[in-house]
Amino acid sequence: MTDHLLSPVRIGSMTLRNRIAMAPMGVEIVGDDGLANDEVVRYYEERARGGAGLLITEVAAFAYPHGANSVHQLGLSEDRFVEPLRTLTDRVHAHGAKIAIQLVHHGKISRVDIAKGDPVMVPSLPEWRGSFDMVGDLSGDELMAMAAASGGVESKPQYREMTTDDIAALTEQLGAAVGRAKDAGFDAVEIHGAHGYLASGFLSPQWNRRSDAYGGSHENRARLLCEWIAEAKGRAGTDMPVWVRLDALEYRTPEGITFDDCQVTARLAVEAGADAIHLSAYGDSTSGRAFTEGSLPDQEARHAALSGRLTRDLAVPVIGVGRISPATGNEMIAHRKADLIAMGRQLLADPATPLKLTEGRAGEIRPCINCYVCVAQPFFDRKVRCAVNPVLGRELELADVERSAAEQSRTVAVVGGGPAGLEAARVAAERGHRVTVWETGEQIGGALRFAALVYEPNLRLLRWYEHELHRLGVDLRLGATADVDQIGAIDPDVLIVANGARRVRPEIPGVEQDHVFDGDDLRDLLTGSGDGSAIKKLGLTTRIAVRFGRRLGVLRDPGTVARLTERYMPIGEDVVVIGGGLVGVELTEFLVERGRRVTVLEEGEHFALEMAHPRRWRVLNDLRDHGVELVGQVTDLRIGHADVQFRAGDAERTVGADTVVIATGLEADSSVADAFRAAGHDPIVIGDAGGVGYLEGAIHAGFHAARSL
Ligand SMILES: Cc1cc2nc3c(=O)[nH]c(=O)nc-3n(C[C@H](O)[C@H](O)[C@H](O)COP(=O)(O)O)c2cc1C
Ligand code: SF4
Repeated sequence: MTDHLLSPVRIGSMTLRNRIAMAPMGVEIVGDDGLANDEVVRYYEERARGGAGLLITEVAAFAYPHGANSVHQLGLSEDRFVEPLRTLTDRVHAHGAKIAIQLVHHGKISRVDIAKGDPVMVPSLPEWRGSFDMVGDLSGDELMAMAAASGGVESKPQYREMTTDDIAALTEQLGAAVGRAKDAGFDAVEIHGAHGYLASGFLSPQWNRRSDAYGGSHENRARLLCEWIAEAKGRAGTDMPVWVRLDALEYRTPEGITFDDCQVTARLAVEAGADAIHLSAYGDSTSGRAFTEGSLPDQEARHAALSGRLTRDLAVPVIGVGRISPATGNEMIAHRKADLIAMGRQLLADPATPLKLTEGRAGEIRPCINCYVCVAQPFFDRKVRCAVNPVLGRELELADVERSAAEQSRTVAVVGGGPAGLEAARVAAERGHRVTVWETGEQIGGALRFAALVYEPNLRLLRWYEHELHRLGVDLRLGATADVDQIGAIDPDVLIVANGARRVRPEIPGVEQDHVFDGDDLRDLLTGSGDGSAIKKLGLTTRIAVRFGRRLGVLRDPGTVARLTERYMPIGEDVVVIGGGLVGVELTEFLVERGRRVTVLEEGEHFALEMAHPRRWRVLNDLRDHGVELVGQVTDLRIGHADVQFRAGDAERTVGADTVVIATGLEADSSVADAFRAAGHDPIVIGDAGGVGYLEGAIHAGFHAARSL
């Protein structure tokens, strides 16, 4: 039930059909001119069609290109920006949603100014540079790409401490932009007072060391923001609400914004005329840890208690944000922990989330899996992508794919029920084809099933595929190997091969011992989806327990297994994981959560490079906090009876291990496709059967295979 979330609400003079707002997201779909092109318009239109009450646009630079973080963001500094934005607001309004524009000056993070060598406006010259704890877990390519977004490694910001004339001029520019926003048909304005940008820099005791009327006391630090609010209100008039986004906290920043500061600022902002407060959070911009604590929280509803405190303080609505699911958002509103809920990533993953809730189709909502692929892109000044929603960023071309029936309904056989096969089957069925999926395991999911065990958000995705395939009437042949004869007998119009990757055992001395498991063994033991051969490696009692569990079917559900393994697992106390890629690191997190002491050995320099870097920061830092040793550049591995020996740099080392897990050696498995080709079929080969692309690659390949059928 999400009645509270779906009830109407007012912000100032504006009434919204429900309390779901799309959080502002700089998705960089804009070209290099700051104009709302057709692709941008369609991206927002899809979110309006999806039922949100309010859309808040991405950061729009009111002094564009000055004070912009990228040329690929909306501009509002000249009249030429108005007309395309008018098209955008018209299209959004046609679907019953309201739209606010988020106005920003990026202050010390104005990458466009930095790249050009132009002065970068700041409240005062920075004294603290940040912890830079994010650097160590980035690859060389990632560091170069980030530097390129600010003009290259040689490019250094030329800071300019703002004079009062600068402040007045900027306030005037903001006012003019609000006037243009009104002309363009926006319903409201959100002033960005968070995330380390200019206004938030003024609010922060760390970044604002001024001794004039704009620095020092709470009132002085909030002066710029309050002047902006007053200016915006003056231009907006009484029928266009204006509010601010604030940081509840500035994590890992000495003398950073505290929640007490935020409460005072919020009160002052309301006194200055703000019609609402949107409560986000921030942290040291050079800290990977701070990123997933503050503005992009990993923890669900991390700041709900703080937004709850603000709702009690203020007479205006409070917008809560930060990994809030519909159910939690509903609870938050019911208990006045927020008046509206902003959802960011969930509306990237499924723009129709609000509509599906409204129509009682919650099971159809495609979940965001908190993988941070989307938000990794703007770091490199690249257009957003979503791991689970291949349409994101290409709405103009792809948004109608699932809505439009194919010209001719065909029979489609999909060999392999992993993520690539499931997505291909789902999209093909949506388009009206008759689809059969052949899966050798007893249940669908393939690699996603094991991934769902070790990382809970993946379980939500698996459940969604189960729901959708059932809803769409896809014929599932489980425990069935589709060989050439069987496929030949049904003679499908289209054959899609998505049989996944093959695991190749590395040639490490000692790898054949019974306490050494690879991914297939673990899948076998923990999900019951293999041939059962790994059970032979266990001691008698454990063997009986695992066989019994299989027979009872308790291994069928990854959620149940995840809970059971918190109490018991046929894995020793001291574990060495060989391979520090995504699979090894996810598995390590799972083991550590179950009390195991783990050492990860990786031949490369970096860990989990296949994870989008913000998630990587979060996971690796958590592992280190839990005492996991991550050893890179490992060579000369040898597995003993109770230890693993290896060389790391110049040092010979030995680490005790009663279990060793091999998490390396995935390679494309073309054998199934080859057999079909030899028999005269012309299969479409996708997912890890064609090349290892992990979840995102598999889902996208599945989608694209089915869209053209
Ligand atoms: C791709 C991406 C871009 C973002 N860009 C902005 C932005 O332009 N302005 C802003 O205030 N917050 C931005 N955010 C933060 C979101 O508004 C939101 O606060 C954050 O994603 C947490 O909400 P969620 O967990 O529902 O995604 C961005 C987030 C994402 C994922
Ligand atoms: S990329 Fe990942 S985190 Fe971002 S919206 Fe998609 S599923 Fe969610």
